This record gives sequence, structure tokens and C-alpha cells, in this order.
Amino acid sequence: MSRILSGVRPSGDLHIGNYLGALKQWVELQNSGEHETFFMLVDLHALDTIDDAETLRQKVREVAALYVGAGIDPAKSAIFAQSDVPAHTQLMWILSSRSKMGDLERMTQFKDKAAKGGAERVNLALFSYPILMAADILLYQANLVPVGDDQVQHLEFARDLAKKFNNTYNKELFTIPERFAGELGARVMSLSHPEQKMSKSDDDPKGTLPLLADDDTLRKNVMRAVTDSGEEVKGGENKPALNNLIELFAALEDTTTQAIEQRFEGKGYGDFKSALADAVVETIAPIRERAQALLADTDAIDALLAEGAMRANAVANQTLETVSKEVGLR
Ligand code: TRP
Repeated sequence: MSRILSGVRPSGDLHIGNYLGALKQWVELQNSGEHETFFMLVDLHALDTIDDAETLRQKVREVAALYVGAGIDPAKSAIFAQSDVPAHTQLMWILSSRSKMGDLERMTQFKDKAAKGGAERVNLALFSYPILMAADILLYQANLVPVGDDQVQHLEFARDLAKKFNNTYNKELFTIPERFAGELGARVMSLSHPEQKMSKSDDDPKGTLPLLADDDTLRKNVMRAVTDSGEEVKGGENKPALNNLIELFAALEDTTTQAIEQRFEGKGYGDFKSALADAVVETIAPIRERAQALLADTDAIDALLAEGAMRANAVANQTLETVSKEVGLR
């Protein structure tokens, strides 16, 4: 059985892009019965953007409830918070002893932020983020890591670290993780700025379709989505807005963009958008309802996370112990 691990940063509001691009695929992997699955809430990685304790704790519960709402089954998968497993930061230190500043400086995520505010003003946590992410993965000896394109560079860094340690100590301390790309999930763009990815922390709430939003908000946001000039429901090179909506529709219905275009031949944007709004609500409403039912019972979520943490700690501590011994720590 191969082991699968992935995680989401519990910052901002999870949206339809997170569902179609990640959660939906995780559920399929879980249900295939071929993998042992670990799904994490990476709250240590969210500390640099959330500075209010209750907000962060609540976000972790919210994202955990959405995992379950989307179909992650705590009886099949370990659902846990990173901060419930102390081994993450412990292994991170060991890994940082073989991590080069030069490699970290080349990470696009760091470079983008540094370009905006100046490298001196970037938090150390953002700079060393890839080392913590490597620890997240290597602790579980994960074989496969489903992540989006924007995380490939971080995964590559984790692979390199794993190889370095295995070579230095001449022992298979870590499994070399592979990216699981599967059928790449839809990359959903903002409804108001279709040249940008739909974002958990969008300043423009109209641009996103949050998994916890009510039906009314979802419908409104679809109806207000920007479209390109023209009348036909047909994508194309200079139609970023329509391409996004058509691709979203196709992903929701598990069909092709051509099939969607055919369905709306001779019809206008109004018909198209209201059918898309129905499809969005049909997908999101049941996820939201299951998540909200669980969110109403804080004790139940905390119990679920405690159970997940037990399973995660068992695996993580074993790796940490082996590695600590091997490198000469007491
Ligand atoms: N960096 C990932 C993101 O921003 C989240 C993440 C942290 C992660 N640790 C991980 C994903 C380990 C997969 C495995 O999306």
C-alpha cells in the first residue's frame, strides 16, 4: 500500500477551486482502497498570516469540517493538525542543517514576496517554509504527494533533502516522495479577475465561490462573474473569463468543455450563467451542509482531530526516532 499525504493551509476561505483541484481528488484516492491516506491542516504554516489565536484554532476546525464535508472519511484517512504533531518542527531542525540558503532563495513563492516587500522584511518562517514542508512529507515516508503546480518546486526540494540524508548516512532514512498529479484537477480562476487564480484570501469577495457560502451568495457571484465581449458561449484565445466559466462548468459535471459549449449553442450568457449557478450550488450545498453540521459540534471536531493526531504521531515519531538516532542525537 502506498502512502499518500497532502495538506492545506488553513488561511482564508476554502473555495470551489480547492475542492475541484484538491479535495475531490483526495477523496478518490482515499476511496480507491489502494492507499493509506493522511490529510493535514498545516496550521504552523498559517502562523505568519493569522495572528489571532481563536481565529487560527477556528480555521483549523473549519477546514477539517470541510475535508469531511467533501468526503474525507475519518475512518479511512487520518485528518490531523500539524501542530498536534511536535515531530514536524523537530525534524525541520534536523533538515535545516542540510538546507542551503541559496536553494531557499530560489523558491518562487519566496521570491515573489521578497520582490514585493524587500527580502529583509520577509519573515524567516516564509523563507524556511520549504524545510517545514519537507518535514511534513518525509516524516510520513509518503510515496505520493498530490499538490498543485505551484508546489512542485517545494516538493522537489523535499526530494533533494531526502536523497541527501539517505546518501550522507548511507541508509534509507526517507522514502523519496513523488508528486501525484493524476488527472490534473481544474485550475479555477477568479470570477472577477480571470487572469488570477481563485484565492482563499481574495480581497474581492465576488471573485470566489467559498465552500461555506450560502446558495444566494454563490448564485450572485456566478451571475456577476465578468464575461468577455461577444455573445456566444464559446471559449477561445482572448476569452479568459469565458474559458474559466466553461472549464468550471465542465469540471463540475465531469464533462468536456466542448460538451458544455454545445449545450449552450444559440443561447446567451444569462442562460449559461444560471445553469452554471445551479451546478455550483448542487456541488457545494451538500459539502457545506455536512461541514456545518459538524462545525456545530466543536467537541466532535476536536475528537476527530485528536484521533487523527494519534495516528499521525505514531508514524511521525517513529521516523523522528530513527533519524535522530542515525544522525547522532540523544
Ligand atoms: N505548501 C502547501 C500549499 O501552500 C501546503 C502544504 C504544507 C503541503 N505542507 C504540505 C502540501 C505537505 C502537501 C504536503 O498548498
